Amino acid sequence: MRIVHLSDIHFWQYEFNPLRLLSKRLTGMAALLAGRARRFRLAGVPRLVERVNRLEPDHILITGDMTTTALPDEFRAARRALASWLSDPSRVTIIPGNHDRYTWWAHRSRRFEAFLGEFAPRREYPWLRRLDPVTAILGLDPTRAAVTARGKLPRRQLVEARRLVERAGNQAARLIVACHYPIAAPGDQARRLTPKRMINARELRDWLATVGPHLYCCGHVHATWAFRPEDVPGQLCLNPGAPLFWSRSGRNPPGFLEIILDGGHVEALHHAWTGEGWEVRPLCREEGFFGTIGQG
Ligand SMILES: [Fe+2]
Ligand SMILES: [Fe+2]
Repeated sequence: MRIVHLSDIHFWQYEFNPLRLLSKRLTGMAALLAGRARRFRLAGVPRLVERVNRLEPDHILITGDMTTTALPDEFRAARRALASWLSDPSRVTIIPGNHDRYTWWAHRSRRFEAFLGEFAPRREYPWLRRLDPVTAILGLDPTRAAVTARGKLPRRQLVEARRLVERAGNQAARLIVACHYPIAAPGDQARRLTPKRMINARELRDWLATVGPHLYCCGHVHATWAFRPEDVPGQLCLNPGAPLFWSRSGRNPPGFLEIILDGGHVEALHHAWTGEGWEVRPLCREEGFFGTIGQG
């Protein structure tokens, strides 16, 4: 099975209606005007769309921050630009990031669900979505409205997630946890995660330490990584970085991940845009990560 994992595309639109600049959107717009638009280059979307289509993935997983300030126009722009990925909702899963709930009203009115709800099995989180007889995605939503970039997973979601995974048993032998917020980050990225972390990450971490092998597909920190957190021995944490984002250091080229599940083996490749072309960088290969599972 070939999964394309993307995150943090951050479609943006300028919005000059002062009434709509109220509340947190004001800071979002200020950030855009201060240079975010320069670093999230929407001109890269067509080549990104084409690159992913060429891989003919079995499934596309997008782990949040599709938009920048959760404007209807941003969601519309996303639907339009990504139309060729979105034609078959059974092959695409999209979960929200904090920017997709940017304002109190966007959060309250479930605007993300109004535009992208068909790419999840149901509106309420958590949920478990089966991709094949042994592979399932657990969707979590720790986003909160307006107040802060920090997330918090409601206790109810954690309890329900436990129940879903226990009940699924072997049907989730290849478990993929999809959550916008990383619960840990490797090396120097940990410093970047701290100010925008999920405040109760420890509770989720303690539970995931008990569930056995799983992929943890996240985003939020715009950097690419594959790492095994020490305190969650069964976890392979994957962050594709942001596909349109040019970091100031130039150390994190924009791109996305191709995840190949072959029986119990897992391989992740980073498709990085160098400015001149796509480069495929092997990120990790874990033989027998999921143990012995029939070819799939
Ligand atoms: Fe983001
Ligand atoms: Fe985020």
